[in-house]
Amino acid sequence: MYQTLVTDLSNGIFTITINRPDKLNALNQQVMSDLSNVMDEVYQNKDIQSVIITGSGPKAFVAGADISEFSGASVAEGKALAKRGQDIFFKIENCPKPVIACVNGFALGGGCELAMSCHFRIASENAKFGQPEVNLGLIPGYGGTQRLVQLIGKGRAMELLMGAGMIDAATALQYGLVNYVVPQEELIAKAIAILQVINSKAPVAVAKCIEAANAVFDESKNGFEVEINAFGDCFATEDMKEGTSAFLEKRKAIFKGQ
Ligand code: COA
Repeated sequence: MYQTLVTDLSNGIFTITINRPDKLNALNQQVMSDLSNVMDEVYQNKDIQSVIITGSGPKAFVAGADISEFSGASVAEGKALAKRGQDIFFKIENCPKPVIACVNGFALGGGCELAMSCHFRIASENAKFGQPEVNLGLIPGYGGTQRLVQLIGKGRAMELLMGAGMIDAATALQYGLVNYVVPQEELIAKAIAILQVINSKAPVAVAKCIEAANAVFDESKNGFEVEINAFGDCFATEDMKEGTSAFLEKRKAIFKGQ
């Protein structure tokens, strides 16, 4: 169904694997198109409760945008590439279902940007993160200058952006770029264990958490107002009635996502 992605849906958890291992899963325009389309599937398919994004093979999550597509592009084409990439990564960031990046190796350039557009990240011990675009006479174009500052703070982000350095998984953990570091063979299992817990919660409330937390970084929105409205909207859901009743009746809530 997708030329460059392998997908699998089990127990509500949809795993998207970027599958160009011979090119370290570099994001060419076909991968970007497939990512855009697969996110439409995630939004529309009611059987998908949450999502894992990972890379194929033991070496790379994604080693960047495909550099071979850059040479010869004009200023206007460069801007269009960045706009398209940003729009696709906004689709991931604003997805109402949880999206976790399982970073199984190099997450460089567009790969680091892809991981940062996910709601949070788990890394394998061999993972490496960086924004090496200045090596190419470029800067990140898929949101990297913004999200790196948001996630690890301005000083650390500035050093990585300007120096094109790579950080290892332990440093990424220390910086707060990833939530956990685990052996590579345990990476997907760790994400599944986390998502099983999240999937047992009220789905509309989970979606509202994503919306309100994302509003912190959206200057067109007042996050506190978004929170008021999202909190209020939960009162219209059957799941809120079920959750509060179940607590008072000392039983486990059964949520329907309504
Ligand atoms: N775009 C296009 N092709 C890429 C790529 C990218 N971002 N990253 C890796 N590849 C390709 C290589 O060209 C090579 O292809 P080939 O076998 O046809 O020559 C293949 O993937 C394997 O990569 P290779 O460089 O041989 O692996 P390595 O283990 O020696 O080095 C990296 C790994 C990640 C350090 C190195 O590939 C690299 O620096 N990649 C580019 C990172 C980057 O600048 N990303 C930002 C892009 S904006």
